[in-house]
Amino acid sequence: MTHRGWSQIPMVDLKEELSLIQAPIQEAINDVIASSDYILGEKGAQLEKSLAQYIGSNFGIGVASGTDALTLSLNALGIGPGDEVITTPFTFFATAEAIVHVGAKPVFADIEEKTYNIDPAEVKKMITQNTKAIIVVHLYGKAANMDQIMRVANDHGLRVIEDACQAIGTEYDGKRVGAIGDVGCFSFFPSKNLGAFGDAGLVTTNNREVYESINQFRNHGSKEKYYHSAIGMNSRLDEIQAAVLLVKLRYLDIFLHNRKEIARRYTETLQDLVKTPEVATGREHTFHQYCIELEQRNELASTLQQNGIDSAVYYPLPLHLQPALDYLGYKKGDFPLAERLSERVLALPIFPMLSFQKQDYIITTIKDFLADNE
Ligand SMILES: Cc1ncc(COP(=O)(O)O)c(C=O)c1O
Repeated sequence: MTHRGWSQIPMVDLKEELSLIQAPIQEAINDVIASSDYILGEKGAQLEKSLAQYIGSNFGIGVASGTDALTLSLNALGIGPGDEVITTPFTFFATAEAIVHVGAKPVFADIEEKTYNIDPAEVKKMITQNTKAIIVVHLYGKAANMDQIMRVANDHGLRVIEDACQAIGTEYDGKRVGAIGDVGCFSFFPSKNLGAFGDAGLVTTNNREVYESINQFRNHGSKEKYYHSAIGMNSRLDEIQAAVLLVKLRYLDIFLHNRKEIARRYTETLQDLVKTPEVATGREHTFHQYCIELEQRNELASTLQQNGIDSAVYYPLPLHLQPALDYLGYKKGDFPLAERLSERVLALPIFPMLSFQKQDYIITTIKDFLADNE
């Protein structure tokens, strides 16, 4: 405890969230234990159906993680060696990792200055005869410019994979993200807006062939037990995670509402002092992260830390400069907007149970810092 009566303010407080929903979750886990049915059972099937419905897709396929959701999707779309996939350099590493996992080549295109999402005009410039797909990332929970991305993709016969790992529930012109491209990929990593008690993920699609391929591939390439018509992998979403997620799904819209309200309060109080997230009409933001942008990012992070407030940088090194991707031959200066942001963005604590009292303290600390550093 500090003098303010609470301990360090974390980026996300899963313990506080759990205190609200522990009883129904415990009950749901007990049901799974009583059934002794731990893999590919009733809860998983129910979750796939509920999430497909929530997102607005015909099919949902539970998998072991968001990374696997991306890898399995690329594979199901027939993308492999010799193919190029265009994506953003300003995302979590897994987005590009999945492309490499299927043997294809990641090709980066810079982001829009205002939204931090991939710039459709830049995507267009990167298209070659080997380009097969675009992975668009709805970064921080904010919908990317899907109209223009879909137009570029349609004009060039490209597939679109939506990396919606940070954006479950986000709406774009009345649709939910993950239901607009060929495939939607979701992560239920514990700190995500819909988080499991371990790793878990989901693919959504309207395409029956893609659905059947992923369904088979996630389970050792088997349609019928012990008969394998393809070399697949083990990437299933287990029943305990499905049970947890089914309960948490009931709270998702309320939790997203709280996130948006907290974001509104940050924006209202900080928008004249630093760059706050811009949300265009019709393009929702569900604030998996709330990021501000400023020159003295590192100094503000230190000041927040000294005052008992966590903050984080998503992401400090764009993907084209990651050592693991050296072989692609990119260099500093190739994607100036992504590089600039990696030096300027700072994510502030945001989670459904963050009290206004704590948030006001965070805001005051930021305002004091900015007044001292004008
Ligand atoms: C944008 C993005 N893509 C992919 C992933 C990978 O998801 P997972 O951690 O479930 O493998 C994440 C989450 O960490 C993410 O934020």
